[in-house]
Amino acid sequence: MEKELVDFLIIGSGVAGLRAAIELAPHGNVLVVTKDIPTESSTEYAQGGIAVALSDEDEVGIHFEDTLKAGDGLCREEAVKVLVEEGPERILELISWGAEFDREGTKLDFTLEAAHSRKRILHARGDSTGRELERALLSKVRSFSTVKKYQFAFTIDLIIKDGECHGAYVLRGREVVALFAKATILATGGAGQIFSRTTNPQVATGDGMAIAFRAGAVLEDMEFVQFHPTSLYSPSAPQFLLSEAMRGEGAILRNINREPFMKNYHSMAELAPRDVVSRAIISEMVKTKGNHVYLDMTHLGKDFVKKRFPRIYSTCLQYDVDITEDLIPVSPAAHYMMGGVKTDIYDATTIKGLYAAGEVACTGVHGANRLASNSLLEGLVYGARAGKSALNSPISSEQLAVSHQSLVKTSDQCPMTNDQTRLNGRSMPDHEEIRRALRKLMWERVGIIRCAESLKNAKEKLAEWSFILDKTFLTRREIELKNMLTVARLITEAALLRKGSVGAHYRSDYPQRGEGWERHITWRKEDKGLRHEKDNGI
Ligand code: SIN
Repeated sequence: MEKELVDFLIIGSGVAGLRAAIELAPHGNVLVVTKDIPTESSTEYAQGGIAVALSDEDEVGIHFEDTLKAGDGLCREEAVKVLVEEGPERILELISWGAEFDREGTKLDFTLEAAHSRKRILHARGDSTGRELERALLSKVRSFSTVKKYQFAFTIDLIIKDGECHGAYVLRGREVVALFAKATILATGGAGQIFSRTTNPQVATGDGMAIAFRAGAVLEDMEFVQFHPTSLYSPSAPQFLLSEAMRGEGAILRNINREPFMKNYHSMAELAPRDVVSRAIISEMVKTKGNHVYLDMTHLGKDFVKKRFPRIYSTCLQYDVDITEDLIPVSPAAHYMMGGVKTDIYDATTIKGLYAAGEVACTGVHGANRLASNSLLEGLVYGARAGKSALNSPISSEQLAVSHQSLVKTSDQCPMTNDQTRLNGRSMPDHEEIRRALRKLMWERVGIIRCAESLKNAKEKLAEWSFILDKTFLTRREIELKNMLTVARLITEAALLRKGSVGAHYRSDYPQRGEGWERHITWRKEDKGLRHEKDNGI
């Protein structure tokens, strides 16, 4: 097996991974591995913007309160404090590195999104905020000769020695490479692809959560999946995100009879919290026997809409929807994982030498429901923190050298490397079919509205596929399926355990919060499956 020794290994090249790389670059060799091209991440597709308390009418304390309110009682306050207090500095620094946010004259232009009590969302090129962040961060990363990138390098598993993380096994082409590092940062993003309807890109298959789980890390809050109310619903079109900022600018939701309905569900109407809007849409769809509702922007002025949402305008036009003239068919879709690999506010996971930042991590910053546009900010703030923490990794160069050496001396190799064990040389039967069935099952049974019956049904079906977890695979698609199944099981088990409705987790059989709702549900792997752990409060 090929092997390589670096100082710092970063898995993932979205906002959190790149920001961590910038922090580490002056201090050693940094390797960023990404399973596709570096720009193929959720960051690139983020439209609406990045929330930050920088406008004259705003205060950090108000951003803090709004975040806690959206989190519905389950945010870790110290994590939110870090986010809102360090946010402004991270944004100003990013602007100094060349990021260009939209302005009104010379002043930054802030917009409104659901559940924000102030206009605090910065945006770039109208609706391409994530793309602009990615551009600015990549260009900064390129200014350091110490940062190397491997693209199309898919992480199979972490290298764990005596319970510590010493790097990762990565698939490059057909070769497995062992990458040793004194600190490994997971910045792999989310898991939206485990649902058949999602705003997430193809790469979002929960890999970081699954590999951390296999390595013995604790995962937390997995039942909290955010569903975005509005993704394009057209059989011939991709499930393209239609930014919340559209409703922030005045777009109206109408059912298929063209009737507005949000005022019947919440006093904030279109700007109610996302979970409320998503459930209201489902309820209207059931009532009207429709499979979508409409988003209406036709009253907002053609020039304004085209200028404010150029990417959405041109994408929808490709699918024969002119958003300035037509009602846009929309339906909810899985969007963001609030749960993930449990970390403290310094991004340290429960495994020494392993850090996690961004959507893959669960710092507790989002609680049970993320406030719109807090995720890019989280990537910046906690990406920088992960970099700082990795500098103080407890793994010594000596320990790493021994580990690196011993890979040659012993047969202690990545279990995935033995081609003979790969289903006796055959490729897995029907794995694409299982992938499709899993995504459908999760959407229908573990989606926006859950109940004991739907969850038990999903649990049984997922158990039928558990043979996949014991297989050794050597292609990205197959290992992704294994990761998707791992994450799907964790979400389903957690959703079953939480007998109550909090934030984005809604149980029709327990619409109230339920007893003990304030706890966080955590998981760790054990020999014969999952171990549910009591929150140990790190
Ligand atoms: C959106 O533009 O609606 C997505 C922003 C977010 O999820 O925070």
